Amino acid sequence: MNHAVKQFNRRSVAVLGIESSCDETAVAFLKGDEVSFRLLSTAMATQQNIHKEYGGVVPEVAARIHIETIIPLVKRILGRRVPDCVAVTAGPGLITSLLVGVHTARALAYIYGKPLVRVNHIEGHIYSNWLATQKPLIKNQRHRLDRIRFPALALIVSGGHTELILMRDHGKYKKIGKTVDDAAGEAFDKVAKIVDLDYPGGPAIARRAAYGNSLAVPLPIPMLHSRDFNFSFSGLKTAVLYRVRDQKNHKTYSEMFRDDICASFQHSVVTVLVKKTCAAAKHYNVKSVLVGGGVAANIALRQTLAKAIPQLPCQPLLFVAPLKYCTDNAAMIALAGYIQFRRGTFTSPLFCDADPSWELP
Ligand code: KG4
Ligand code: ZN
Repeated sequence: MNHAVKQFNRRSVAVLGIESSCDETAVAFLKGDEVSFRLLSTAMATQQNIHKEYGGVVPEVAARIHIETIIPLVKRILGRRVPDCVAVTAGPGLITSLLVGVHTARALAYIYGKPLVRVNHIEGHIYSNWLATQKPLIKNQRHRLDRIRFPALALIVSGGHTELILMRDHGKYKKIGKTVDDAAGEAFDKVAKIVDLDYPGGPAIARRAAYGNSLAVPLPIPMLHSRDFNFSFSGLKTAVLYRVRDQKNHKTYSEMFRDDICASFQHSVVTVLVKKTCAAAKHYNVKSVLVGGGVAANIALRQTLAKAIPQLPCQPLLFVAPLKYCTDNAAMIALAGYIQFRRGTFTSPLFCDADPSWELP
């Protein structure tokens, strides 16, 4: 595409980012040059209150709400501005939700005569680490792209994924570990249901855990000593289920027990996440450790990593996505799209499909 190549060579690039892979509809506008970028506007509509009633995301409902919400959000973010390219989450995620974002992006790119960038949602979560603002907070702050040094190790922990990814450079990924069953966030959500807490379970369990004693209810720490970088959370969830059942049968299911089991469960998850992240960082001798995804909002995880990572012999710098960019958002998609566009990876709006099970290599 000639027009796209011309823009690629221009110094400044404006990207419209669109995210709709699960239950958040999000749009962002970002501008960058060769060395830095600025996030100019973001907008988001969450559906969490609607899905709360069902105890989890209902794909059909999510897609319908995305359809109602996405155009007003795009209108609000773009105003009269025209982007140089449109970046959209094309997978992994719920196919009905993904299709709304992908087809909106295709239509916009077609109308504007601009290229389209397909962004992997996990890659987006990795790039959320570049969105941290240094203190003091400055509006429209310029972020330098070379702030994070390679090789980097990314721990991505969300509702659908728990992965350790080695990143040798922009666009160069190698998955070195993943969950063999449930994702960490999924385990938080399922355990929350077991202990009668609302969806999403992560924040609800973290709030309870703050009042509990993590040693009061001993729980397993699955795969802590396995000689790989994989995870498993399904057995831990079942262990919680049995403990809660026992307590209910013996009529000893109290508020204190709920706080304690939340603290113990969180402790098990955090311990194994931190141990494997440290082992992988050491093994690959990385210069940076990146943490993203909804579970990266967990304060216990952030604090434990902040203590453990500086102790490693390779002395990597720890980056954790800012709280508001841990869960799904479009800023990370616009940024990942901007990096790809600069590297010359984009497609025509006529050829872009959604892939619900798209995995990074
Ligand atoms: O990244 P995300 O918004 O969506 C996916 O791509 O899956 O992650 C959502 C997940 C949910 O499972 C939610 O329970 C979890 O992130 N989560 C947390 C916390 N905040 C959100 N888990 C633990 N502690 C938190 N504070
Ligand atoms: Zn996500």
